[in-house]
Amino acid sequence: MKKYLFILSICLAACENKTEQQDWQLTPFVKQDTDNPILTANDTTTFDDPILKRTINWEAKDVYNPSAVMRDGKVYLLYRAEDTVKVVDGTSRLGLAVSEDGIHFKRQPKPVFYPSEDFMKKYEYPGGCEDPRLVATPDGKYILTYTAYDGKTARLCVASSPDLQNWKKEGLAFKAAKYESLWSKSGAIICEKVNEKFIAKKINNKYWMYFGDTNLFLASSDNLTDWTPLEGEDGKPKPIVKPRDDNFDSWLVESGPAAFITDKGILLIYNSANKGFQNKATDTKNAYRAGQVLLDKNDPTKIIDRSKTFFFEPDKPYELTGQVNNVVFVEGLVNFKDRWFLYYGTADSKIAVAVSDKK
Ligand SMILES: *[C@@H]1O[C@H](CO)[C@@H](O)[C@H](O)[C@H]1NC(C)=O
Ligand SMILES: *[C@@H]1O[C@H](CO)[C@@H](O)[C@H](O)[C@H]1NC(C)=O
Repeated sequence: MKKYLFILSICLAACENKTEQQDWQLTPFVKQDTDNPILTANDTTTFDDPILKRTINWEAKDVYNPSAVMRDGKVYLLYRAEDTVKVVDGTSRLGLAVSEDGIHFKRQPKPVFYPSEDFMKKYEYPGGCEDPRLVATPDGKYILTYTAYDGKTARLCVASSPDLQNWKKEGLAFKAAKYESLWSKSGAIICEKVNEKFIAKKINNKYWMYFGDTNLFLASSDNLTDWTPLEGEDGKPKPIVKPRDDNFDSWLVESGPAAFITDKGILLIYNSANKGFQNKATDTKNAYRAGQVLLDKNDPTKIIDRSKTFFFEPDKPYELTGQVNNVVFVEGLVNFKDRWFLYYGTADSKIAVAVSDKK
């Protein structure tokens, strides 16, 4: 009898992740091991850099943290690529790749978004343009949120495009002078799913965006380009979703892909790390893992429920070892042919995909 109890308790511990998922969550996701990683660094593609004024290998070091959107029945990935130029430890530019099946991608040989001799250079160089997140707009365009990194401060920025190829930089997300030096990242705009697309959706007459890489904050906008953080009584951005002690998300929480409205509320998939990660994680207990939170679709500040535990964690060799060890970083989600494709960066080095068949 004791033996059976022992076996049962092992099983309970092992099955914990599966049994603790709630019905409103989008799970489970199955990593596509046969094809993963689906994109890796490439040291043959070149780019004539407008700042360095010479030809460089723009994606030779690492490719990671991709966003994804549907366009004309195909999946487009906009991904972060680092060079080997050593101005800093890899300047980031954004590359574009397209797929007909969600798994096999053909990439364009040149980046489509990068630091240049323009009004954003002071914010974007030498660190670069990082961590893209894309949504469609009601009038058929695309809005990109990305991190500009000057080597010292990360700033959340916005750009727009009619076709994912040609981009207009719209400047800092938070244009008020008091926010010019705010460390900010990771803008996940609230959308509704219309057929295959995630289209930005107003709630109470405003667009809304979760952002941040410590707590998750909230900002509002009339036009998707100029954003205003929701402030607390101290006049600072107000935390909406916070880290939780003694949990997988005890150190930080950071937006994943665009948030979207479901029957049950706004579903936000988020990245997070345990406090142990600060000391350079050596085991996956302290890894970057992903969770989910459900917020009120009539009041995006109000949490309805939160995942008890993570639904996604690093366990493959290319997730455990890389530029930063023990990281899965989810940033792209599409609903394609009735399946959910989740795209993520692995160990800040490569790109992989996981699929869910949840209806
Ligand atoms: C790198 O890019 C070249 C040119 O597009 C391509 O032929 C090659 O297959 C790529 N290599 C990898 C490892 O993706
Ligand atoms: C967006 O709205 C702000 C006011 O909220 C306005 O100042 C700005 O010019 C608008 N930008 C565009 C591109 O329409």
